[in-house]
Amino acid sequence: MPLFKDMLKSGETLFRDTVVLGYDFQPKLIPYREPEQMKFATVIRPLLQGHNGRNLFVYGPPGVGKTTACKHVLRELEEETGSVMHFYINCWKENTTFKIFYKMCEELGHHFLQQQKTSDLFSIIKEKVNKSAAVFIFDEIDKLEDFNFLYTVLEDIYRKSVILITNYRDSYSELDERIRSRLAPEFVFFREYNEQEIAGILKQRREYAFVQGCWDEDAFTEIVEKCTETNDVRVGLYLMREAGTIAEERSSRIINGAHVADAITKVNDFHIKPTEGLDEEMQLLLNLVRDHSGKKIGEVYSTYIETGGDMSYKSFHRRIMKLEENRFISTEKVSGKEGNSTLVHYATKLTDF
Ligand SMILES: Nc1ncnc2c1ncn2[C@@H]1O[C@H](COP(=O)(O)OP(=O)(O)O)[C@@H](O)[C@H]1O
Ligand SMILES: [Mg+2]
Repeated sequence: MPLFKDMLKSGETLFRDTVVLGYDFQPKLIPYREPEQMKFATVIRPLLQGHNGRNLFVYGPPGVGKTTACKHVLRELEEETGSVMHFYINCWKENTTFKIFYKMCEELGHHFLQQQKTSDLFSIIKEKVNKSAAVFIFDEIDKLEDFNFLYTVLEDIYRKSVILITNYRDSYSELDERIRSRLAPEFVFFREYNEQEIAGILKQRREYAFVQGCWDEDAFTEIVEKCTETNDVRVGLYLMREAGTIAEERSSRIINGAHVADAITKVNDFHIKPTEGLDEEMQLLLNLVRDHSGKKIGEVYSTYIETGGDMSYKSFHRRIMKLEENRFISTEKVSGKEGNSTLVHYATKLTDF
């Protein structure tokens, strides 16, 4: 019996390139999103002809390619012309007007401006951009603390396209009327992918990420199905990476159904977003929840205070809710003898996606 036929030898690996499975990897082709990308191109095109551009409001659930498709258009723009500038801002990281302008100045090559006023930062941007034209992309706008920058850009930059991206359609009605009237965007909805499309996307990644022939096709189909259930491509990428790692740990040359099943159980630890996106304070709170998963929110707050935290309970609560909104953690309302309380859990269950 060929007992050791399918065993990996030491130093052998199933992965060709794990970078391809990262959430931030930018694939060369973005299939199934041609109409959406066309829309991006249409609103930007006037800028290339010396006119003002138009604006877009892009929305759709997480993990359906909004960021990726948008960045792809920017890359094509860059290849096509050097005359239109572009700024991509992730508002989860840059969530205030100051931080956004600061980041833009950095991209324009101006550093060490911490002491500057917000208005001075914008003067730098305005001076440069108004000599040509620019595409401004503000991604994850639901994470913003203030929208002043948007008003300023819409008012004082002459030739621009502003593209806003969010998971929530409601983010639009939450915008100030004076911003909405100046923005007057067209809307682009990113629908969820169907099973065949998910399979297409994941297969494309598989080809680059794994050594040829190492996947059991039924096992791979399991991943496609699980991913389709959640509608989030990142879940599929995560499961592929996990299943591959588990197979390797067991020295298996084939990634089979058992490896995939184990990867799916591991999904409880799964973070939908890379945590590098969190600022230090949020990261600290996330770690706190991880270490006290399952406890009441009030108890976690007490620990926070005991360990030197100085946030009010209200701010603490608000940030915890933000972590939940972004699926780093989940909360659960329970009623007990002492009345109702909220428990916090680290990460979310796959079924909650
Ligand atoms: N059409 C597609 N082709 C290739 N990869 C895709 C496609 N759509 C999504 N992805 C991949 O899925 C992941 C999530 O996409 P992302 O653009 O971050 O989603 P969103 O911004 O809508 O939350 C990324 O790793 C991305 O590369
Ligand atoms: Mg995104």
